[in-house]
Amino acid sequence: MDSTDRIEDLLAGLPGADAPNGDDSPVLPVAAGASPAGTSPAGTSPTGAANTAPVTPADPSSGAAASPRALAILRETFGYGAFRGPQAEIVERLAAGGDALVLMPTGGGKSLCYQIPSLMREGCGIVVSPLIALMHDQVAALRQLGVRAAALNSALSARDARAVERALTDGEIDLLYVAPERLVTAGFMELLARTRVALFAIDEAHCVSQWGHDFRPEYLQLSVLHERFPAIPRIALTATADPLTRDEIVERLALRDARVFVSSFDRPNIRYTIVDRADARAQLLRFIRDEHAGEAGIVYCLSRRKVDETATWLAAHGVRAIAYHAGMDAASREAHQTQFQREDGIVVVATIAFGMGIDKPDVRFVAHLDLPKSIEGYYQETGRAGRDGEPADAWMAYGLADVVQQRRMIDLSEGDEAYKRVAGAKLDALLGLCETAGCRRVRLLAYFGEASAPCGNCDNCLAPPRTWDATEAARKALSCIYRTGQRFGVVHLIDVLLGRDTERVQRWGHTQLAVFGVGADLDEQTWRSVFRQLVALGFARVDHEAHGAIRLTDASRPVLRGDQAVSLRSDVREKRAVAGTRRRRASRATLAGGAGGRDDTVLSPADEALLDRLKAWRLAQAKAQSVPAYVILHDATLAEIARRRPRAAHELGEIAGIGAKKLERYGDDLATLVAGGDAPVSAATDPG
Ligand SMILES: Nc1ncnc2c1ncn2[C@@H]1O[C@H](COP(=O)(O)OP(=O)(O)OP(=O)(O)O)[C@@H](O)[C@H]1O
Ligand SMILES: [Mg+2]
Ligand SMILES: [Zn+2]
Repeated sequence: MDSTDRIEDLLAGLPGADAPNGDDSPVLPVAAGASPAGTSPAGTSPTGAANTAPVTPADPSSGAAASPRALAILRETFGYGAFRGPQAEIVERLAAGGDALVLMPTGGGKSLCYQIPSLMREGCGIVVSPLIALMHDQVAALRQLGVRAAALNSALSARDARAVERALTDGEIDLLYVAPERLVTAGFMELLARTRVALFAIDEAHCVSQWGHDFRPEYLQLSVLHERFPAIPRIALTATADPLTRDEIVERLALRDARVFVSSFDRPNIRYTIVDRADARAQLLRFIRDEHAGEAGIVYCLSRRKVDETATWLAAHGVRAIAYHAGMDAASREAHQTQFQREDGIVVVATIAFGMGIDKPDVRFVAHLDLPKSIEGYYQETGRAGRDGEPADAWMAYGLADVVQQRRMIDLSEGDEAYKRVAGAKLDALLGLCETAGCRRVRLLAYFGEASAPCGNCDNCLAPPRTWDATEAARKALSCIYRTGQRFGVVHLIDVLLGRDTERVQRWGHTQLAVFGVGADLDEQTWRSVFRQLVALGFARVDHEAHGAIRLTDASRPVLRGDQAVSLRSDVREKRAVAGTRRRRASRATLAGGAGGRDDTVLSPADEALLDRLKAWRLAQAKAQSVPAYVILHDATLAEIARRRPRAAHELGEIAGIGAKKLERYGDDLATLVAGGDAPVSAATDPG
């Protein structure tokens, strides 16, 4: 078994370990619903209590509620044609002075929910955001749109901060991003009292949750906003789905009068794939080369050592891979995060210390080389892919070693019995996802209390796994465990089943057993799969006190006796045929329209050539203005330009992502590029 070296990255977040200590705390996304001191609220279900609260996703086509004014801002400023999901209703609620709590998945479009009402109402929208490192990019993106945005945080010099404060009281700012610790100071409160405030937006509102993985003590003080400014509307937003966190937000931020908007948590553009692990690195490299060559992605590993090794190995094989974990010094961590955000096509190999607030829209894949702790963790991590709505992959390689390792970490944690029970149940739910022969998405959404139909965009839907009657194999495997005394790991058990006359088998006299060689009808890989599934399904278990020995459970008996049939999935080793060229990206509309329709909007070679030139132009613009490339224009916008080849300004303005300001600023360059010419990089001044 690998990567047992440094598990501090994970243990750091467990009860009894050191408390989180800042932006980059290497904490784990496990304990939603679990409580450190066994004070779990009554009725908490082991699966994150998700089923206690019915989720009623809003009608995805509910744009009807939008007022002409909101629509005009959406179109002219942001360049989008329609609101998504409940956005319109939320915007109108805020614009009318009401409070709202918004639960929407990662990349769902929460920002517009406060940005547009801030522009509709008189005064400045004050946005509380925990991630100073990312404020700069958010402000840059808004300024590109012609919105008067600014940030106030500790990264600013005193002089610059004073200038921002003056502009604020003079009514010259539409949106101000503030770090929570700054917001609650007496000085800032006094400043607010002299400012016309349109609304307060509390982003990443789950940071008030003390049991969550992103807890920020300063968030607890944000209820002061309501006390001091009761008449100003407030909106809290989070992508954390579970009802416990939701209740904590309502309670701690005094949002009892807020209307709660729950979106569907489905991310239809993400394709879920879980493969049987044989040689994880080689499988990962093949996946990246075949499906995502030159594209940005995140690879999650459990241990720091594995992060470093994997990044080095990928780099040696031609992938632009960099590492990120809490053991690196702050400067290198920040450098790597910035490089990932700004440059095209970087693959960051990381522990879960990486990711919160990463709003890079064009992350094309998230890969897991180790099993996460829970479905919540898996969903949050994979949710970082495809925030732009374009097709993206969530890919995981999974094997028995993961189960062994995760169970061990739970057993070794300092949490009490209640904690271990919840953590164990969460792990079981995740194993169920890994082993299911049904639609992965149906299973994921069901976990969050949402019903759905098979999606057509996961590995199981695309290539339904075959199942086989494994009753005989299961009986052989279980009796092999029993006959050898429940003291051996899978490697030895398989040697015995296959009748291998190894030194170890000899030493223990296992050639004498009745089970010696009874499994020769199946190959080693199949036996590995059998043992993995038996453990995942609870027919056998791993004993950590006995160094990972496999033992029987109560559920083993009926199988051994022949009273219970066992059906297992046959692992498909290489899922997809290698396509000659990379799959091109279907639009969000195509995806919404039907399952598996991602090849409908293939770019011609000429379009591809134009797209490449558009990207080169964008890179030069981004460099000249020192902003990330996506702040200039998104990939999806460039692809649409390459496809439709608009010449006239009004045609260009119809493309999603091109509002009035961007049309004015980049329209000529884009028209020149479409016409086949070279556009010079225009003046590199801040457009704001
Ligand atoms: N109505 C819309 N039409 C088209 N694109 C949209 C619309 N609303 C949002 N988007 C785009 O969706 C992407 C994600 O939006 P946003 O950053 O607000 O997500 P989020 O919900 O805040 O996610 P996170 O939880 O990761 O912070 C952005 O690129 C945004 O421009
Ligand atoms: Mg957001
Ligand atoms: Zn599916």
